[in-house]
Amino acid sequence: MDHDHIATSAGRNGATTDGAVAPAPNPAAAVDAAKLEALVSRILSDLGGAFSVPLVRIGDRLGLYRHLREGVALTAEELAERAGAAPRYVAEWLAAQAASGYVTYDAQGGRFGLSPEQAMVFAHDNSPVDLRGAFDLAAAMGGNTDLVAEAFRSGGGVGWGDQAGCLFCAVGRFFRQKYVNNLVASWLPALDGVTERLARGGAVADVGCGHGHSTVLMAQAYPKARFTGFDFHEGSIEEARAQARAHGVEDRVSFEVATAKDFPGGSYDLVTCFDCLHDLGDPRAAARRIRQALAPDGTWMFVEPMAGDRLEDNLHPVGRLMYSASTMVCVPTSLDQEVGEALGAQAGEARLGEIAREAGFGRFRRATETPFNMVLEARP
Ligand SMILES: C[S@@+](CC[C@H](N)C(=O)[O-])C[C@H]1O[C@@H](n2cnc3c(N)ncnc32)[C@H](O)[C@@H]1O
Repeated sequence: MDHDHIATSAGRNGATTDGAVAPAPNPAAAVDAAKLEALVSRILSDLGGAFSVPLVRIGDRLGLYRHLREGVALTAEELAERAGAAPRYVAEWLAAQAASGYVTYDAQGGRFGLSPEQAMVFAHDNSPVDLRGAFDLAAAMGGNTDLVAEAFRSGGGVGWGDQAGCLFCAVGRFFRQKYVNNLVASWLPALDGVTERLARGGAVADVGCGHGHSTVLMAQAYPKARFTGFDFHEGSIEEARAQARAHGVEDRVSFEVATAKDFPGGSYDLVTCFDCLHDLGDPRAAARRIRQALAPDGTWMFVEPMAGDRLEDNLHPVGRLMYSASTMVCVPTSLDQEVGEALGAQAGEARLGEIAREAGFGRFRRATETPFNMVLEARP
């Protein structure tokens, strides 16, 4: 099938390359064949990514990328043997991966491998561009289609705990590499006086902590400080406790089930919210509670997806990912809760700052950023 010609021939006269007659286009609108061809080409590329979701996850689960990373280039048979998988499946998987540009292929030797860049995306746990968690997230979002479609009809929400598959695992995995690469090295140091304070000790609340990766990383970096992670999802809190044990920080980290607007404690030196404010049903009540729970000169750090303030600022690849995830996960999560403000994952700094100011924070600024996140600092 020559996909380069599909759009052009269908657009010009309604006949496709194999002679079939395409549905008539809207007669009121003239079809620009070049634009149609560009659109269809782009969508074919998008579909290639979508079709790759289960394949990447299988490669990850069976260790196929890991084996490719470790060795010299391998034939399909050699890879199948190392991974303990059936050669015919592995051969077809490799062909798809080579066509996707996810593995290298040497046609002369019939061998496949991973370039250093491909390895960073598919085979290194702490790489800043380890994107395997994003494929898990895409799968979880797909599994949620029926629930979200029903919510579109009813206007209601989908509870965080009711999401299909292990959305929490996908989120935890995808976000963890951001925290491993940025949180201690650049985000905390960008805040005013916070690292000095935590080095001396202090108390930190990590609100909406999920699986607790951010909490554990901070506790590893600041052994004199005391950390409590709060989340309203019981399963996530259990996993967070297991993470604390696995990393040997359970002496200074605890995790409790609590909502963002009534978590216990006070006089915190630092309250953090990682990628969760926009998921809350009532982010304004949470901001008020955080203001109240802080020590007089404490800091609220909230990390939110990078976004401009207007829709037209966000019509690019990152905005596309964020709006899609927001439609399937963030908006339904918020609408399932009281108030249901549903800020969405592209709320923008102006709106977020307004929430902080309304809660009584006199100082608000963007402390630092990455292509994916804004690190916001609010102080009384
Ligand atoms: C996108 S996840 C981020 C989790 C974690 N902070 C991370 O970065 O991996 C959003 C989290 O907010 C939590 N959440 C949503 N609404 C909440 C509420 N009202 N109170 C407390 N936690 C809430 C969810 O359970 C989920 O763990």
